[in-house]
This record gives sequence, structure tokens and C-alpha cells, in this order.
Amino acid sequence: MENTPVTTNSMKNKQGSDPNQENSKQVDPKQWGITEHVASLKASIIREMLKYSRMKGVISFAGGLPAPEMFPLDELKKTCVSIIDEFGSGSMQYSQSMGIAPLREAIAKRSNQRGIVSSIDNILITSGAQQGLEMIARAFIDPGDTIITEYPTYVGAIQAFNYHRAKYAYVPLDENGMQVDLLEELIKKQHPKLIYVVSTYQNPSGITMSLERRHKLVEIAIKYNIPIVDDDPYSELRFNGDPITSLKEIGGDIVISLGTFSKLLAPGLRIGWINGPKVVMPLFERVKQVSDLHANTFTQYMVYDYLKRGLLEGHIDDIRADYSAKRDLMIKSIEEYFPKSITFTRPEGGLFLWCELPEGADAHELLMHAIDEKVTYVIGQAFHPDDGGKNTFRLNFSSANHENIVEGIKRLGRVFDKHLPK
Ligand SMILES: Cc1ncc(COP(=O)(O)O)c(C=O)c1O
Repeated sequence: MENTPVTTNSMKNKQGSDPNQENSKQVDPKQWGITEHVASLKASIIREMLKYSRMKGVISFAGGLPAPEMFPLDELKKTCVSIIDEFGSGSMQYSQSMGIAPLREAIAKRSNQRGIVSSIDNILITSGAQQGLEMIARAFIDPGDTIITEYPTYVGAIQAFNYHRAKYAYVPLDENGMQVDLLEELIKKQHPKLIYVVSTYQNPSGITMSLERRHKLVEIAIKYNIPIVDDDPYSELRFNGDPITSLKEIGGDIVISLGTFSKLLAPGLRIGWINGPKVVMPLFERVKQVSDLHANTFTQYMVYDYLKRGLLEGHIDDIRADYSAKRDLMIKSIEEYFPKSITFTRPEGGLFLWCELPEGADAHELLMHAIDEKVTYVIGQAFHPDDGGKNTFRLNFSSANHENIVEGIKRLGRVFDKHLPK
């Protein structure tokens, strides 16, 4: 918002005289007194980073963007025509807050195929998983309530939870995901309202929670009757390794899972879903009404039509092949160009890998040098609600092309060689 006060001079009075003479008032929007909720929000570091990423010649590993060349534009174009032909004005009309029935049914059917027992009554269509997160916070978080998160965790969840002025208790990750043996003590001390996890190919770390830990997590959550929110945009983007049983399949009603078509189809459609216990769905329905009445009717029909034509599964295979090759190339390039003192994860799916610089190194300082070299990443601090993780950063491997992956990692290697303490 601009700092300069503005003057209400846009209207002439009835006689056509200049209102500035008699009516001019100094207006200072800065004094409007925003809520404490909004005042507590910080700008997303990732959005800030996108400013650099858009500069000419910059290779960005910062955003979590799907590869734009993978959007199935021709099929989506056909979809637009076919739904107008089939549903006519209905595709443009207000629709139900829970979402259009055929899409909810199709999502429930896919969930069942993946081992999650679901019916249409468990599914509410959201405007992306991000809205699902915010709706859950609206439903369950009063200011000062505690949420248990992984450490690090997804930055968009921190934003949504900060808005509701949540407090946090953290459980660190290791290569098997959340260290659930630390959980029970924390629950006893902090009495959390929710446990939030991204259990599979986590954003930002790429780490997947092991099956054993999933069972343990569910067991503890049931013992204390604390809902687990499993934010799951990535589990279908598996490149290698066996599929892992989802928390929702293991835990049933103790788990609220969030899904999205953002990474499977296109994020601009803004279609995701909540899969929750039947008894809480009417609550979410009311929250959804307050938020935006319902998700975009037209894009709900688009996704439904795409699913109905049986196109999604083949498309997901194509994405997996594309991202898997990019992940391999990024790892190979890191091995070749990064100093050996930098460690990194080797995710079996998803969009991200996570790097750790030697203790004491500052990823933010190094980022400034990286920007000079025209390459960007996201600093790890963005994913730590307490600003920790100064020596960590996240790399996205889905959006750059092969040539840029190699060149960008080479540039970062030069930055680290030059500026990391020897
Ligand atoms: C863990 C996680 N949750 C939610 C989202 C938001 O997804 P959507 O586009 O469906 O709102 C993202 C996007 O990157 C994510 O990584």
C-alpha cells in the first residue's frame, strides 16, 4: 500500500464545482486499523522470491511450479467445449457449497481405489488444498491454540495458521519423516488442537514418513483424540519405491486429508478437496459458505470431465516420467557441482529436494550471491515457523528444463565454492 495520503477528489459535486475546494479530506488508509489477524501475517518469502525469479536470464528453483509444458492444454480445451455442450448454463451457475456431486463422487471413487474408504459425504471440494488448510484452521483454531507441525513444514500452512494466530509445537524430521517418538511428551505438555503433516514427498524436504511411523502417529492421535491433518498434494507423483499406505487409510476418521489437482492437472484450476469424517463435513460446509460460497463451478466440471474421459491416470504417468528424469538430473548435477559439505535429500517423488549447508552457513546471505549469478532457491527459514533452519534451502526440480537444471546447479556450485567458508 502506498504511503502517501490520497485526496477524495474523484467526484465533482452536483453543481459541477471542484469538490477539492470545500470537501477535500486527507485520507490515510494506513490508519484504517487492520485486524490483529492480518497484522500478524508476513509476506510469503516465496512470493518475494518470485520477483527475482521473473527477471530476465534468471534460472529459478524457487517456486513450487508444475512444469507448464505438462499442462494438457489441448484436452482441457476440448473439455471446456464439451461441458458447455453437456451442462449448458449449469456449468456457469452457482452450485453447492460441498461441490458438484459428480466430481465429489469421482474423487470418492478414486480414493476408494487407493484404499481410502470414502463416499460422497466425506468429500468437500475446495479452491485448492490451501483453502482446505485455512478452512480447517477456521473450524478448529482459536487464537493461542497449539498446532503440532513437522519441522520444517509447508510455508502456506504456516501462513494459514498464523492468520488464526496459532502457536506451534514442533517435531523434527529425519529420513523417515516426523520423529513420532517425541510426539507424546509434546502432546502432554502442549495440549495441541491439531497435528499437521505432509506425510508423503514433503514440501519442503521431499521426505516420506515410514509405514511404521504412520501407524505410531495414528495410534497416538487416537489415544489423545487429536485430529491429524495430512496435506497430500504429492503422493501420486511417485517415481520409484513402493506406494506407501496413506495415513487416511490407516487412521480413518482421526485423519482429515487434503487433496488437490494442482500438481496432477493444473494449479490455475484451483480445485482440491477435503476428505474428512462425515460428522464434521456439515461444519466445513458452513465454513466454505462463509469463505466463497463454493469452488469455481466451471473448473469443477472441467476436472470432472477430464476424469470421466479417463485421461488423468495416463497424464499422471507422463508427469511422473518427466519429473523423475528431472530429479535424477538435478541430483547428478549436485553431485558434480556442489561442494561435498552440502548434504541433500533424494526424494522418491514430488517436486522438491532439500539441502543443508554446513553448520553456521547462512542460506539467505548466499542467496544474495546466487541472485547475482542469476539463480534462485527458497531459504529454509521460510519453512520454520520460528525462523530456524538458517543453513538450509529448498530446490524445486519440476519447473526448469533440463538445460537450465544443469546450468542453474552449476551456477549455485560456483556461488558455494566462492562464498562458503573453506
Ligand atoms: C504441502 C502443500 N499443501 C498445499 C499446497 C497448496 O496447493 P493448492 O494449489 O492445491 O492450493 C501446496 C502447494 O505447493 C503444498 O505444497
